Order: sequence, then structure tokens, then C-alpha cells
Amino acid sequence: MENNTTNNFSNVSFNQWDVELYESKHSFVSNLAIDLLELLNPQIGEKILDLGCGTGHLTYKITTRGAKVIGIDNAPSMIEEAHRCYPDIKFVVGDGVKIELKETFDAVFSNAALHWIKEPKKVIHNIWRVLKPGGRFVTEFGGKGNIETIISGIYEALDAAGYSSNKQLNPWYFPTVGEYATLLESEGFLLTFARLLERPNKLEDGEYGLRNWIKMFASCFFEGIPEKKQNIIIDDIENRLRPNLYKKGKWIADYKRIRIMAFKEGKPNKYF
Ligand code: BEZ
Repeated sequence: MENNTTNNFSNVSFNQWDVELYESKHSFVSNLAIDLLELLNPQIGEKILDLGCGTGHLTYKITTRGAKVIGIDNAPSMIEEAHRCYPDIKFVVGDGVKIELKETFDAVFSNAALHWIKEPKKVIHNIWRVLKPGGRFVTEFGGKGNIETIISGIYEALDAAGYSSNKQLNPWYFPTVGEYATLLESEGFLLTFARLLERPNKLEDGEYGLRNWIKMFASCFFEGIPEKKQNIIIDDIENRLRPNLYKKGKWIADYKRIRIMAFKEGKPNKYF
């Protein structure tokens, strides 16, 4: 889970996540990925890198299949919690753009992290570099159209409040399957699976679900806005989105995910 933004709600900054909120209300992030683990199909004794591991729950699940896993995430608060929960697993603070590991891996796994990094070529190059020949890259993250209803609600409310320039703070990268496949193939990867999946996702906590989600994942849009005003804008976002995204007492986030499996074959393309 990578985030290079400033969170004004709780006055925490750069790469700091509200771990308590994440653990208590957003466990769906790792729960949704159970079938991604089946695609990864970890084998006993394999070395696997979990890129953007967050609080390490999926990292742990991979180790239960007998693989040796290192978890990497650029949020120190997440890594601290991962260490606390799973002291026997190696977790390091690191960045997909600059993976500073010397080791190589049989597989790189990444769930719900790569949409936080707007430099996909660098990430792909680093993944190539740390994979052994024949190694696999299995990932799922936000694809084209992901949370587009939520984003339009945020944009409209920012416009209405006179903070149009904050729309530029959008931190996400949501490519099409074609765009991402092209980047992978340019690096030398052979794709064996690529899909865009609709993943409507019920948010926890009933009426408060969208507010919590914004606080957890979209606080960057509120940089420089006084706290009182932020709450007014969030009320407005809720009002704008309620007709489409609030059903039977639950908020539903319009997730669309890219799911990919690709293998390191041939020679790397040296354009860095
Ligand atoms: C996602 O998992 O698709 C996602 C989560 C938070 C913000 C943006 C995307």
C-alpha cells in the first residue's frame, strides 16, 4: 500500500497511514485478494516479494504455503504494524520506484498498491530486475474507470466549494489493460493473463462508509483546506453520490481492477 500524499484529516503527513482505521474498517483490501493468491500459487521454498504489503496480512498468507516472503511498503506506519503482527516475517520500508533489495525472487506479488505510483515504467523495470529468469509477476490494482463515480463526486464538490485546483492532487494511476500490457511487453515480460474486472465493493460502517473511505484513501484532495470546510465538502460529496452509490444502508465503491500475470523471459529492455 503506497501513498505519497499528505493526510489533513488526522494531521499525519507523507507516507503516513491511519493504521487503526485501515485495520478496523478496510480489511476488504486483503480479503478481496484471496483468489489473486490462487493465481500466484506460491510453492514451497519459493522466494516471493510482496510489493506494497501494507500491514502484511497477505504476506503472511503466502508464507503459510511454504514460501519465503519479504514484504515491502513505503509507509513506515504500515511496516511497523506488519512487524508487530508477524515478527517472523521480514518487512522493509521501500518504494516500488526504488527497490533497494539485492536479492532476486521467484515471484513478485502486488495487491492494491500499484495504482498509488505514477511512474509505472520504473516500477516495472524494478520488478524485472529483482525477478529470477522465468520468474512471475502477479498483480491486481485499480484499472481504467476505477472509482470513477467517487472521483467525479469529489471533483464536483471541490469545484462547488471553490477548490478546483485541488483536483490536480489526484494521486492515482488507473491504466487500461492495453496500456499496462504494452509497458510490460516493452520491458520484456510475457503476459499470460490480463483482465479488467468490475469489483463493486461494499464499504464497512453503514452510513459512515464513504466518509471513512475518503478519510483513509482520498485525504490528499483536501490539502490546504481548513478542517471545518473539509467536512462540509465531504457532506456534499455524500449528497452527490448517495443516489448512485448508497444502497440498502451501505455505500458501494465502484472498483474496477486490473489483474495481470506476466513472466520474465528473454533479455531485459535497457531503456533506463
Ligand atoms: C483500489 O483498491 O482500487 C483503490 C483503493 C483506494 C483508492 C484508490 C483505489
